[in-house]
Formats: sequence, C-alpha cells, structure tokens
Amino acid sequence: MSTPTNPPRTESTVPASPSLLRTLLRPRNLVITVIALFALVQVISFPIIAMAGWQTNPNPVAEPAWDKPETRALAVRACYDCHSNETIWPWYSKIAPVSWLVTRHVIEGRQKLNLSEWGVRGVEVDEVTRAVRSGKMPTKDFLLMHPEAKLTDAEKQQLIDGLSVSLR
Ligand code: HEC
Repeated sequence: MSTPTNPPRTESTVPASPSLLRTLLRPRNLVITVIALFALVQVISFPIIAMAGWQTNPNPVAEPAWDKPETRALAVRACYDCHSNETIWPWYSKIAPVSWLVTRHVIEGRQKLNLSEWGVRGVEVDEVTRAVRSGKMPTKDFLLMHPEAKLTDAEKQQLIDGLSVSLR
C-alpha cells in the first residue's frame, strides 16, 4: 500500500511584494513622497504658466486722468497688483498651488478693471467706489500677504473721492 503523498507545495513562501502605493505611503517614505509630488507639480505647472504668458505685464495702454498723484499712489498701493499691467509678482506667486490662485485673481481683476488699459473696457465709476467703500476691495487674502495695502478710513475716503473724479 502506498501512502498518499502530499501535493507539492506550489504557493510561494515569499510574501507578496507590497504595492507601490503602500510603499510610498509608509511613514518612513511619506515625507519624500510629498516632496517628490510637490516638485512634480512645480515642474508641470511652472512652464505652463510661463508659456501661456499668464504672469506677464503687458505694456500699459492708457491710465485714467488722475486728479492728483495721491489718488494714483493709493490705487497703486491697494489695487494695482490685480487691476493694472504693473503687477508685482512675488516669489510665492511662482509656486503652485499659490501661483494658480494669484494668476486667476490677476486675470479676473484685469478683465473687470484695468487701470493701465483705461478706456478699453467700459467701467462703472460707482461700481469701483462701491467696491472700496464696502471693503470688498482689496480682497482679504491679498491684505493678508500685503499689509501695506490696507487703507485707513481716511485713505479709503481719499481714494473714493479721487476715483470719483479721475474715472469719470
Ligand atoms: C488680489 C487682487 C485684487 C486686488 C488687490 C484688488 N482687486 Fe478688485 N477684483 C479682483 C478680482 C479677482 C475681481 C473679480 C472677481 C470679483 O468680483 O470678486 C475684482 C473685481 C473688482 C471690481 C468689479 C466689481 C466687483 O465689485 O466685483 C472692481 C470695481 C474692483 N475689483 C475694484 C478694485 C479696487 C478699486 C481695488 C483697490 C482698492 C481692488 N479692486 C483691489 C482682484 C483684486
């Protein structure tokens, strides 16, 4: 009588190799994974923004007939980064995802009101003064990064009065 033989063992005794995702998400690797993803996003985003020309300052066309240099100075301080062709693009405006936010604000801001392309698009003076009076403009997130753009109540009034005359 032959004794029953055990079937040969076919299953591998080597544990299955962990998936790539699980390897990347190991606490030990997480920091490197996050840094690598961050770098990858920069490598993709930076040339797209550069090639599209979204962070450029086109030549100014025409400015409003400013009533006083002080009015212009206040507008430069509080509005020009988003509503002119003289945007100062800070270093963090080059780094995704902040770059996407800043670029969108400037594109949309210039579409609504561009003080370097005055007369190109119709703009309601009352809408502009209302935006300052209500505190909607400059935007809160902008003031967070540009405390120097915050206007005192007196400066706000001065800007509103100046704009009412200059933008007519
Ligand atoms: C951080 C960029 C930024 C700054 C600084 C800024 N704006 Fe704007 N502004 C925008 C964007 C974006 C829009 C369009 C989206 C919206 O209406 O919220 C806009 C819209 C407007 C509009 C259209 C009407 C409205 O209320 O939406 C006016 C008028 C305006 N801004 C005036 C100003 C004035 C005046 C200043 C300076 C005191 C200023 N903005 C500063 C980004 C900015």
